Amino acid sequence: MRIPKWPYATERELRLVREVLESNQWGGFHEFVDRFEKSFAEFQHCAHGVSAANGTLALEMSMAAAGIGPGEEVIVPAISFVSSATAVSRAGATPVFVDIEPLSFNLDPARTAAAISPRTRAIMPVHFGGPMADMDRLMTLARDRGLMVIEDAAHAHGSEWNGKRAGSFGLASIFSFQNSKVMTAGEGGILLTNDADFAERARAFANQGRQTGKGWFHHFTLASNYRITALQAAVLLAQLERLPQQIELRRRNEDLLRSELAGREGLAFQKVPPQVNRHSHYLLLGRIDEARFGISRDAFHKALTARGVPCTPFYPHTLYGNPLYQNGGCRVEPCPVAEACIRDAFWLPHRVLMADEETIREIAAIIRGL
Ligand SMILES: Cc1ncc(COP(=O)(O)O)c(C=O)c1O
Repeated sequence: MRIPKWPYATERELRLVREVLESNQWGGFHEFVDRFEKSFAEFQHCAHGVSAANGTLALEMSMAAAGIGPGEEVIVPAISFVSSATAVSRAGATPVFVDIEPLSFNLDPARTAAAISPRTRAIMPVHFGGPMADMDRLMTLARDRGLMVIEDAAHAHGSEWNGKRAGSFGLASIFSFQNSKVMTAGEGGILLTNDADFAERARAFANQGRQTGKGWFHHFTLASNYRITALQAAVLLAQLERLPQQIELRRRNEDLLRSELAGREGLAFQKVPPQVNRHSHYLLLGRIDEARFGISRDAFHKALTARGVPCTPFYPHTLYGNPLYQNGGCRVEPCPVAEACIRDAFWLPHRVLMADEETIREIAAIIRGL
């Protein structure tokens, strides 16, 4: 199976990394870091960017800058990577796990409304796989109930809701540049915001409590060092240049795969709302209805893997199903959809969607024949 490897670099990454190596600043204060923060923020329709060593730290930075702490709650979807919840817990607050919608795989706005308590401070939508959560309903809800929105946009580089990019809706957002993401430096993350004061607090938190324009050895708040290196920024600048054409390639291939499989009983791909006019195509998600498809999700996963098609049988448990949350430290709302997805959902990684057209048709034929 001719599936391209991921990640990959070109001469462009090599040239920019060499430029850093030939300078006397390899750390977070090379001009590439500033250039990357500004370029990526602008790309996502935001005014300010504060980079971090990874997306998990960017989420922790968002909690600190938002002043979220003990006795407070943040609503998190029951299906996400663990960092969405641990960032809340590490801030001393309580994650409240709320169900996702059956086919968008994103936070259910009605169930979110029902989960709000007097302690709730924020909602954290996760744009799962790339297509965005229902930002019309979630933003209206947050406004009506006086809550902050922190977007976990770790999967949503370049994604749009009615022409407005992921990460620009809430008070703040975060992105990940970890190895599997559609833009990567192996590790990396960024916090974006349109609020200048929030950006300044986040930067102070990531930069040992320093303040912009004040001295190197002057520390104003209790903070840490979350900075990215210039080597990461060099790679990310090159990756950002290539992102729009890669999104377009994945969009074409996903359209083709979906249309080739349109009549396959019992297979439902992620529903992309019409408001999502463009997205990252980070994961191609789907669900298998065993009775109608003929075989189980696990058998589907095994068959694809045996034929050389990379496939992941979803998460092994909901976020609250992790041993970490088995003894409390969270509030759990009813999550029947999330629990069903654990049994019947799967995803194909984005590199599958970067194959040539013939390979995409071959994958469709394999799935049709299962
Ligand atoms: C939804 C989500 N949020 C946060 C993260 C954390 O990002 P990182 O791995 O860069 O720490 C990930 C990571 O992989 C993720 O999928």
